[in-house]
Formats: sequence, structure tokens, C-alpha cells
Amino acid sequence: MTVVRQNYMPFSICNQIQFLSSSRRTNCFTDETISVKKGRIYTKERHQCVFWSSFTLRCKFCSSEQVDNAVQIVRRTVARASRDSTSKQPSRGRRRKRRVLSLGTPAKHYSVVSHHATASGERQPTMDALSVEVFDAKKSSRSIATLNDVSPGCTVLDIKKLVAQKKAKLGVERQSLRLEAKGKSLKDEQTLASLGLDKAKNVTFYVKDLGPQIAWKTVFLLEYAGPFFIYPLFYLRPSFIYGQAASRPVYDVVTLALLCNSFHYAKRLFETQFIHRFSNGTMPLSNLFKNCTYYWGFCAFISYFINHPYYKLPALGLTQIYFGFAGFALSEMGNFSIHVLLRNLRPAGTKERRIPFPTSNIFTQMYNYVSCPNYTYEVYSWVFFTIMTQSLPALLFTVAGFIQMTIWAKNKQRAYKKEFPNYPKNRTAIIPFLL
Ligand SMILES: NC(=O)c1ccc[n+]([C@@H]2O[C@H](COP(=O)([O-])OP(=O)(O)OC[C@H]3O[C@@H](n4cnc5c(N)ncnc54)[C@H](OP(=O)(O)O)[C@@H]3O)[C@@H](O)[C@H]2O)c1
Repeated sequence: MTVVRQNYMPFSICNQIQFLSSSRRTNCFTDETISVKKGRIYTKERHQCVFWSSFTLRCKFCSSEQVDNAVQIVRRTVARASRDSTSKQPSRGRRRKRRVLSLGTPAKHYSVVSHHATASGERQPTMDALSVEVFDAKKSSRSIATLNDVSPGCTVLDIKKLVAQKKAKLGVERQSLRLEAKGKSLKDEQTLASLGLDKAKNVTFYVKDLGPQIAWKTVFLLEYAGPFFIYPLFYLRPSFIYGQAASRPVYDVVTLALLCNSFHYAKRLFETQFIHRFSNGTMPLSNLFKNCTYYWGFCAFISYFINHPYYKLPALGLTQIYFGFAGFALSEMGNFSIHVLLRNLRPAGTKERRIPFPTSNIFTQMYNYVSCPNYTYEVYSWVFFTIMTQSLPALLFTVAGFIQMTIWAKNKQRAYKKEFPNYPKNRTAIIPFLL
């Protein structure tokens, strides 16, 4: 299987259809988009395009492969392309399975299809197509798009894609689709049928433009890159900031604080790039300025005082410094362990959410007590950093982070309990036994 990253031109298949690789039978995707580009067929899940040499499409509920029109078109197209390409593509070791499909046809958009079964597994005939009118949520009389022949099996994401095709400015990520102008945002994976709209002849949606979006990853990388580079600037003691006193000796604990800060943010950059599997692609661009101001501002504030020529050593001397440093190091290990555990909870390329449980890694035992141990360890890290440096700005950063993470942890715990009826009842949100 080759993973290719590139632009693509999609057509959608409703999320009731599974996409099975015939070369690797364990692989299956729902809510897939297939693209045909430069003579190859790709599926796309979030940011990854996967090139398939051959596959089977079938209904997620009844396992029938007799799914209707659009899928048949795909199958025929693939079969034809596959025949065409067999003789053209030279086989090379493991690549033999990954045949290049020579389609000879340009990328093309196909309509969304529907196929479903009742809970008992009995197949239903294809449902009637609907007419969907999408209005502006801010000015509810203004029509944004009219969509004809929409299948009840169509998801909210499919509707967004169709709106984006009609209104280029309104990319999928910018849209918040609702049933009422001021109503709640619908989830991408909800189908029209599941929203009870399959009986209606004319369906009305409202779309709110969320404004320019930016990838989560970019925001994370920028907010953590700032502190990584800003903190050492003060450590260098520029005389235009500290004046004559800049030449005073630098204590070892000041150097240790620099190393701790650099390690923490290098770790966060690494985790953002290689560990986290985010479910949301983007967030409003305005968050970038908010988050960067928070992290960069606090970092400069902390660094200015710890690296100040008149910085005072911790009251309890080396004992306090070593105690703080050991606690910081252990908390960082704990935080990293939880991030790895969360990564392993979610198969690559999916948005799956599961209940996290402790593993053989001792740090993950914290899951026996709290719902968000990554926040617990993050707070501990900064508590120990504050102890190590005995710095008031570091204490303020710890308190601000603690308040923010407590709010998030409580919301996450509420969401876990709502989503999973068997969610462990004995966990608190962030601080074992207390909060
Ligand atoms: N110092 C501070 O002020 C401060 C404040 C906040 C965060 N942080 C640091 O930033 C780190 C990340 O923060 P965060 O708010 O993004 O953490 P988070 O919400 O716990 O998410 C971490 C990653 O795990 C995934 N995830 C969470 N629960 C999951 C589940 N049940 N099943 C599958 N995947 C799951 C998340 O995916 P989704 O995309 O689906 O959420 C995300 O990719 C924190 O652990 C902390 O170290 C620091």
C-alpha cells in the first residue's frame, strides 16, 4: 500500500459503504472519498491519500456488494483501468500489487449514492432523492445553494462538499451546518436519514461561515516553536535588555531551567508532528493569534525574570533545585507516555475515540484515577519547574494552565460519560481524588 500526499479531485461515496482492499483484507474505511488523478485511483481520509490497486465496495450494514449506481460506475471504471494497466505496468518486488491504473479519463465528480439495510439486515430499496436548500445562518433569507437529487444517505460532510463546489469561498472547513440559523452545529458523519429528513421533500439547512481556517497542526507547531526560540534569547543576557548588570555570572539553575524549557517545547513539537492523531483538521485563524500570544507572552515573561542578572536562588538551595528537577523530568515522561497511549487508541487515518485504560507503562496507571492524565502531568511539570526556579512568573503560568486544563478536562470527562455508558465512574477529571 502506498501512501501518497497530493492534491486530488474527489467524488464521494456515502459513509454507509465500506471500502475493502482485496490485497489487505483487514483494511477498511468508511466515509471515503475516491479520487481519480493522473491515471491513478486514490482514497482519501483526512490528509492521506491511499493508492489502491484493487478493492471491493460493500454496504456497511448488510455487507451486500450490490450497491447502486455510482458504486457500480466505480467498480467498472476500476476494472477497466485494471485490465488496461496490467500489461503496461512492470512488476517490481513488493510493488507488484500496487498497479498503476491507467484510466485515460479526466478526474470527474460523481453524485453521492445511498444504500442501506434495516437493523435486521434486510436490504431496502434506494430511498428517494431530496432537494436541499442551504441558507446563510447570519441572514436567513439569503440562499447560498440549491442542491438537487441528494440522497438521504448523504452525510453532513457530503452536503458541505456540495456547497463548497457551488461556493468556492466556502471550503468544507469553513462551514458550520445547522438545521436552524442559530442552532447547534451538525456532526460531519450524521446522515440526512439519521436526522429524520429522509421523509421531507425539501430540506433546509443553514450554513455559518466560520471564517478563514488554519490547520491544527500549524497552530500547535507555531505556538510551541515560539517558546523554544524566545526563551534562550533572554538566557543570552542581551545588554540592551538587562543593561550593565548583564555581565553578572549565570547560576547553574538558570541553565537547568533553560534546558527544561527547551526540552519541554522540543517534545511538544515532536509530539505534534509525529505522535498526535488529531480528529479536527482546522480551527479558526483567530485562534493562532490568541494561542501564540498566550504561549509566547508567558514564555518571555518567565524567561525575562529567571534570566535576570539579579535573579535570586531558591531558598532551600540544591535540595529544592534537585527535587524540582526530578519532579519535572518524571512529569514530562508521564505526559509523553499518555500522548503515546492516546495515539495508540486511534487507528491511523480515523477519528475513532475509545476509552483509555492503563497499559503496562507505569505512568499510564494515572488513568485509574483521572480522565485526562496528560493534563495532570502537564500541570505537575510546571509545578515542579516553579519549585525548581522559585519564580513567580512560572507560578502564574502554572495557575493559568491549570485553570484552562481543568475546564477542558471536565468537559472531556462529561463527553466520555455521555459517549460511553461503561466509562469508569471512579475517575476524577484532572487531579486524583480531588477535581
Ligand atoms: N501548558 C498549558 O497551558 C497547556 C494547555 C493545554 C494543553 N497543553 C499540552 O498540550 C497537550 C495536548 O493538549 P490537547 O488539549 O490537544 O490534548 P487532548 O485533547 O487530550 O488530545 C491529545 C491527542 O489525543 C487525541 N485523543 C484524545 N482523547 C482521545 C480518545 N479518547 N481516543 C482517541 N484519541 C484521543 C486527541 O485527538 P482529538 O483531535 O480528537 O482531540 C489529540 O490528538 C496536553 O497533553 C498538554 O501536554 C498545555
